[in-house]
Amino acid sequence: MIIQTDEELECVIFGGDVLSRMLGVLKNEIRPGVSLIYLDKVAESFILDNGCIPACKGYCGYPSTLCLSVNNVVVHGIPSKYELEDGDVVSVDSGVVYNGYYSDGAYTFSVGCVDDSIKRMLQVTRESLRLALSKAITGNRTGDIGNVIESYVTGSGFSVVKEYAGHGVGKSFHEKPIVYNYGKKNSGSLLKKNMMIAIEPIVNYGNGKTKCLSDGWTVVSADGSFSAHYENTVLVQNNCPKLLSSFKYCE
Ligand code: MF3
Ligand code: CO
Repeated sequence: MIIQTDEELECVIFGGDVLSRMLGVLKNEIRPGVSLIYLDKVAESFILDNGCIPACKGYCGYPSTLCLSVNNVVVHGIPSKYELEDGDVVSVDSGVVYNGYYSDGAYTFSVGCVDDSIKRMLQVTRESLRLALSKAITGNRTGDIGNVIESYVTGSGFSVVKEYAGHGVGKSFHEKPIVYNYGKKNSGSLLKKNMMIAIEPIVNYGNGKTKCLSDGWTVVSADGSFSAHYENTVLVQNNCPKLLSSFKYCE
């Protein structure tokens, strides 16, 4: 969607801030021994206490507030009784709705002491998002975003997961345009001023292939390698894109 009024802008800023603060709360809860179900409860209470609604819960039948994807799980891991262990990485992906407006965000946290090569993959994925956000300016195209993500990630020796992508967001969770994590410069949909999009590089340590487990949700890397996922919601601007969901409370 394109944000048209100051009232809409206030709503998406508020919802994005609740989501960003929720990531900050989870950062302080994530440690070895903590269960995924517990993290989901903390997140749900925080969202509700701040006047928002969890966007994932009930979306296409999804059962939880958070997607919690541990290690070789790429996306859409369902919170279970599993307790985090030293050396795990956990991707937290979630959305909130405030007054009918959605925002979306994801962050991959390290649990305790994580292998240096995996830490590097997290840093590369995080940096690919930072580079991509700088392309969210009027007149660029979605392919400019995909291109910078793909070149940076593959140039660093990791693989982009191509089956999942960023997207427009606003009055619903997933809108046009699709924002692929790969592509050619100056191709794809034109970015317009005040267009609200979610950019979300998903990166595997090994090859980029995935498979979905029989629960219909949990997506794992085909080769069993670890995966990382970072996502922000951003408002396209003429010069300096405006972050709506951010990592300012969790890093
Ligand atoms: N937040 C995810 C995204 O980045 C979507 C989650 S799907 C759900 O687009 F079903 F779990 F909600
Ligand atoms: Co998203």
